[in-house]
Amino acid sequence: MSRNPARRRASVLAALASGALAVALLQATPPAAGDEALPYQDPDLPTAQRVTDLLGRMTLAEKIGQMTQAERIDVDADPSLITANALGSVLSGGGSVPSDNTPEAWADMVDRYQEAALDTRLGIPLIYGVDSVHGHGNLQGATVFPHNIGLGATRDPKLVERIGHITAEETRASGPQWAFAPCICVARDDRWGRTYESFGETPRLVKSMETVIDGLQGRPGQLDDADRVLASAKHFAGDGLTTYDESAAGTGAYPIDQGIARVSRKEFDKLALSPYVPAVKKHRVGSVMPSFSSTDFNGGSTADAVKMHANKQLITGWLKNQQHFKGFVISDWRAIRQLPGDYRAQVKASVLAGVDMFMEPIQAPNNPNGWDVFIPTLTDLVGTGEVPMSRIDDAVARILKAKFDLGLFEHPLTDRSNLDQVGSKAHRAVARRAVAESQVLLRNKQATLPLRAKDKVYVAGSNADNIGNQAGGWTLTWQGGSTNVIPGQTVLDGIERAAKGDVVYSEKATERVPRKAVGVVVVGETPYAEGFGDVGGPQWAYDPGDNGQPRQKQTMEISEADKQAIRTVCARTTSCTVLVVSGRPLIVPPGLLNQIDALVASWLPGSEGGGVADVLYGRSPFIGKLPVTWPRTVAQEPINVGDASYDPLYRYGYGLSTRR
Ligand code: GLC
Repeated sequence: MSRNPARRRASVLAALASGALAVALLQATPPAAGDEALPYQDPDLPTAQRVTDLLGRMTLAEKIGQMTQAERIDVDADPSLITANALGSVLSGGGSVPSDNTPEAWADMVDRYQEAALDTRLGIPLIYGVDSVHGHGNLQGATVFPHNIGLGATRDPKLVERIGHITAEETRASGPQWAFAPCICVARDDRWGRTYESFGETPRLVKSMETVIDGLQGRPGQLDDADRVLASAKHFAGDGLTTYDESAAGTGAYPIDQGIARVSRKEFDKLALSPYVPAVKKHRVGSVMPSFSSTDFNGGSTADAVKMHANKQLITGWLKNQQHFKGFVISDWRAIRQLPGDYRAQVKASVLAGVDMFMEPIQAPNNPNGWDVFIPTLTDLVGTGEVPMSRIDDAVARILKAKFDLGLFEHPLTDRSNLDQVGSKAHRAVARRAVAESQVLLRNKQATLPLRAKDKVYVAGSNADNIGNQAGGWTLTWQGGSTNVIPGQTVLDGIERAAKGDVVYSEKATERVPRKAVGVVVVGETPYAEGFGDVGGPQWAYDPGDNGQPRQKQTMEISEADKQAIRTVCARTTSCTVLVVSGRPLIVPPGLLNQIDALVASWLPGSEGGGVADVLYGRSPFIGKLPVTWPRTVAQEPINVGDASYDPLYRYGYGLSTRR
């Protein structure tokens, strides 16, 4: 039904003519502009009252529509599907972007879907979600911050709050009002492909970084501002505690991502649940996303493991009832399909467990159905009484509350007043500071660092001049890519701007090394996301930029080419510094380490590689501290501070300082 008064009245006349009068009047068709506003449309009323009024007007179909999230690909060609199904939400999965990947095109896209939602009978606005996990990484031109593991190394909660605010500003200005961030996972085994999405290996460090939620959402009452978004604490819970399955390595399955957390309930409470207490009570996170993973507190067989998406005891019992979480729970990407039984059983189990909204992309043709089957399935479950209406009403009330708090009923279309701030110099300056603060100095023989600007410098290594590699996953595409290019500076760019002497760059160190030159070798990983980043995990080979070429296997080892570059450069320069640009620690064998004068963990710095040069050349001091333990070998994993026998190469919290 249109928001246009004339069209709205015409549809009422049509309803009269079609004998649907009773239904139309019963459902109190919302007034056209100028008529007396219904309570739910009155911004001066308390939100709880608006929710109750609106809920009371909704049909079952409208309620279930609010619990349904489609992917943009499902509706982009025909947004009227949003209207016809009264869909409550649409998302962009990683890399799902408008053909013209600009802030304006994003806002136009989101608004086009929003118009379709506003054309529904009750005009309930859509909420649009996106993975703004290190800035609005899907958007070309957005400020791309260091991934969380680097932010954990800064030990700077105020800076991380500022980063959340900038992320929210750039996200909301381009349309989406909801970020599927932060991951408050505690990464315990660095072979996990999502280690870089974690702030670190201790709950204490992770909790300290939850200030990012305040940056994203603002204080209570600020969520309807043009520079704030709803946050989503994920993945509830224990995603970082799963056990590595050696039998799965190399088989194409994920050896650790989405696995089973085989820990005692006591360990689980400490390492998995405790970060959610401040996220809910102190930071008032507006949504929570369950984990694909499972829990097994009794160390039994795999059959004893309970999938988090069906864990009523933890979602409803602990999160909603004990922690009094008032937001809503959004399922992960088609995650309910991993639950036991047929689809009907999966929907029933997850709805009854307390999941409120369902991320059910259709993703045709290899997944022939998604939300288009979810809707009739849940409708049938309510019809038979297997899912009580009280559960539906609880879910919808939570979702509506978030939409009222976001101001979407008053301002459903994108407020573009901050559009010109996307990727601004001011934002990039904050990102550059975060890069500098995230650098961890692990070794500095004879005070090799900081370098002197006047020195000639020879730069080598696979990650010296590759902005795709330094940004990592969740950048322009889901998996990221070595060929992905975003505006910003590579590490080499930063060195070239900082050095006054000659700079020679040769990725494989094949160029001649000038006399008395100092050496910098930037090694590390190629991009990955989720289980494709597991050590021993499957290889992703579908990104356009990959031209179908399979990617490097992730091993936590430095590549042979990079090892050779280190040997060559360290043998021919007056000093050699090695920077590790990666989503987690990489193994530095003893024979290699003793050739290295200075060693720096650079993590995944994002778009502002210049921040690395700032600490290399002493414009900023090294202050970073390890957010995870740095192992001697992969075989030591999982290795964490507090372990009974703990003999890493560099301990958790280690970091040399060059602060004067
Ligand atoms: C992914 C991830 C989750 C993300 C979601 C939407 O599978 O597990 O972190 O928010 O799908 O992209």
